[in-house]
Amino acid sequence: MVSEVRTPRLAVLLEPDWAAEALVADVRRGLGTTPRSLPPKWLYDERGSLLFDRITRLPEYYPTEAERSILAARADSIAAASGASTLVELGSGTSDKTRLLLDALSGGGRLERFVPVDVSEEILRAAADQIAARYHGVAVDAVVGDFTLHLSHLARYPNKLIAFLGGTLGNLYLEERAAFLGALADAMSPGDHLLLGTDLVKEADRLIAAYDDSAGVTEEFVKNALLVLNDQLDADFDPDAFGYVPFWDSRMRRMDLRLRAEVPQQVRIPGADLQLELAAGEEIRIEISTKFTTDQIAAELAAVDLEVVEQWTDVRDDFALTLARRG
Ligand code: SAH
Ligand code: TRP
Repeated sequence: MVSEVRTPRLAVLLEPDWAAEALVADVRRGLGTTPRSLPPKWLYDERGSLLFDRITRLPEYYPTEAERSILAARADSIAAASGASTLVELGSGTSDKTRLLLDALSGGGRLERFVPVDVSEEILRAAADQIAARYHGVAVDAVVGDFTLHLSHLARYPNKLIAFLGGTLGNLYLEERAAFLGALADAMSPGDHLLLGTDLVKEADRLIAAYDDSAGVTEEFVKNALLVLNDQLDADFDPDAFGYVPFWDSRMRRMDLRLRAEVPQQVRIPGADLQLELAAGEEIRIEISTKFTTDQIAAELAAVDLEVVEQWTDVRDDFALTLARRG
C-alpha cells in the first residue's frame, strides 16, 4: 500500500483579533470586579505551553504518567470499542500521550483523520507537523479554536472518538462544565465515543504537592498569567510582588490556585483601560483543578445522554479514563 505524508491543514476558528477582544473582555470582567479571577485559557501562550510541558515531567505531578499508564494498557481496547475513523482531541497541547491512541487506532487500520483542537496556535502547529510526519496517510486537520465556543465545528466528522485528556475538564467551573458537556454531546452523533481523562479525589498533601512543586515550575506557570497581560495588554504587573497560594478546597473538591498581592499595589492595564488598586493580601484566582470520583463522572455524562462503556484507573487509583458512547 502506498502511503503519503500529507501536510497538516490548520483551520483558525478564532477571529483575527479574538485574542485581543476576548482577553480584554475577560480581564475587565475577571479583574475589574471582586473576587478577582482570570480564565485559565490565557495561561497558555508560547511560554505557558512550554512551562506546562515541564510540569508534566515533574516528580510531584502524577496525573500525566498515571494517565499515560492507563492509555498504554487500554489503547487497543479503546480503539476496538470505538471503531473510530476520526480522532478528535480537545485541548491537545503537544498530543504526546495521544500517540498511544493514534498507534492503536491506525494499527486497527480504520483511522483516517486526526483533529487536534487547541487555543495555543504555536504548540498546535508543532504537534500537527510531528504527527503528520509520523502517521502517513492520516489527514491532520488542526483547529485553532476554543473548546468552550467551537464544539459545533466537530459535528461534521462522522464515526469519531473525542479525547479530552489531562484532567482539563476539571479546570472548568461547575456551570461551565455543564454547558461544555451539553455542547459536546450535541456535537456527537449516536455511536460516537468520548474518552475523558479526569483526576480523582485523593489525600490533600499529594494534591497540594502536585500543584506546588519544589522546583517552583508551577508557581512560574501560574505567574505567567500576569506576564501574558503585560505582553498583550501592556500591563505593568510585577510577578515578584505576588505570592503563590495553592490550596485544596475540600468542600468544592478542587485545587484553587491563587496569586496574592504581598504589598498594596497599583497595576495599570492600558490595553483593557483598567487600573487596579490591590490591597495587601488581596488575591486573584488564576485556576481551579476539580477532582472527581468515577461515579460522579458517570452521572455527569449520563445527564447529557453519554453512557459509560468502561472506566479504568491506574494502579494507584489516582486518575481515571472513562470511555462513553453517545446513545
Ligand atoms: N491534553 C494535554 C494538555 C493539557 S494542558 C495533556 O493532557 O497533557 C491544557 C491544554 O488545553 C493546553 O494546551 C491549552 O492551550 C488548552 N486549552 C485551555 N483552554 C482551552 C480552550 N478554552 N479551548 C481550547 N484549548 C484550550
Ligand atoms: N489540567 C491540568 C490540571 O488541572 C492543568 C494544570 C496542571 C495546571 N498544573 C497546573 C493549571 C498548575 C494551573 C496551574 O492538573
